[in-house]
Amino acid sequence: MSTIIHDIEVLKAKTSKISEIDFNNLKFGHVFSDHMLECDFKNGEWEAPKVVPYQPITLDPSAKIFHYGQSVFEGMKAYKDADGKVWLFRPLDNFKRLNISSKRLAIPELPENYFMDGLKALLKVDEDWIPEKEGSSLYIRPFVFASGNGFHASPADEYKFIICTAPSGAYFSGEVKVLIEEKYSRSANGGVGFAKAGGNYAGQFYPTQLAVEKGYQQVIWTDDTSHEYIEEAGAMNIFVRIDDTLVTAPTSDRILDGITRKSIIELAKSENIPVEVRKLSVKEVVEAAQNGSLKEMFGAGTAAVISPISGFGYKDNDYELPKLTDDSYASFLKKRITDIQTNKVEDPFGWRMEVK
Ligand code: PLP
Ligand code: COI
Repeated sequence: MSTIIHDIEVLKAKTSKISEIDFNNLKFGHVFSDHMLECDFKNGEWEAPKVVPYQPITLDPSAKIFHYGQSVFEGMKAYKDADGKVWLFRPLDNFKRLNISSKRLAIPELPENYFMDGLKALLKVDEDWIPEKEGSSLYIRPFVFASGNGFHASPADEYKFIICTAPSGAYFSGEVKVLIEEKYSRSANGGVGFAKAGGNYAGQFYPTQLAVEKGYQQVIWTDDTSHEYIEEAGAMNIFVRIDDTLVTAPTSDRILDGITRKSIIELAKSENIPVEVRKLSVKEVVEAAQNGSLKEMFGAGTAAVISPISGFGYKDNDYELPKLTDDSYASFLKKRITDIQTNKVEDPFGWRMEVK
């Protein structure tokens, strides 16, 4: 039987898996809620989205996603506050970025109401899946890919837009040590680095595996021409604190315009923390580590929130970051941003959106 929520048709799952889930021991993106949003692009237009039971999808082996990698995604979170109200953080920015990514990969853009009303209907149906525990949330994964068939190397004529969700705990367990990359590149000028394209992540896996073998958790990507400037991490933007100034690289063709990154920049400015958005050379960071002015490095992203970096490797040398103190920017900014996200404090920026 189907119902309508926010103008979206909802087909409910016959049974729920929720009683099988241990909400006190959630990993990141490991178990999935009962429903998903599904929407097809056919005959030149997006058909009405539907909420359906979470289920496998069937594709033809010639579907272009498999051969030419036309696929983009987003990462968002839903939070439940102490009164059981449900909140999203800057969701329109995710919607807009999904379409920016789609455009770059010649994927048809989505109408805003399909994304927003579809997401709200999905969250209403799976409201019980949104964790209440501090540090946990419902990770939301909207994605669009080429479901149309054919070996011709050209954009597909059919696409699928899906949103599925996963109650999740922390992205990293334990400390994060990073390796500053000297050989491989994540992206290049004129490329797709600014898009959340699936292939950007596939291209990072091999160099990241090499870094993991050496004892690091993530690669810090440097610019593709000189490898002299720090750009971002595999799933995060990067911030460095030198003395009391927070520095992060400017966005470009090569860097994802992170929503957490831009929120941190605004938050820090509002707290009178000096922030510089500028090119940041590896040389400067190494020198700062050597002369003691490098106080902190942290990654910022939806999944990772703010993840302090404990040390970095560069040219066969390891550099340790000072131990985190109570007045570290990472702890302070993480608390400020998560308090806003979870409706614990006022939101002077208007970032939070209640899901009703
Ligand atoms: N950079 C990359 C490559 C990412 O995958 C992510 C994660 O989404 C980010 C940065 C952070 O972006 P956001 O804060 O919008 O999640
Ligand atoms: C996110 O932070 O939401 C991301 O998309 C990162 C992902 C690769 C886990």
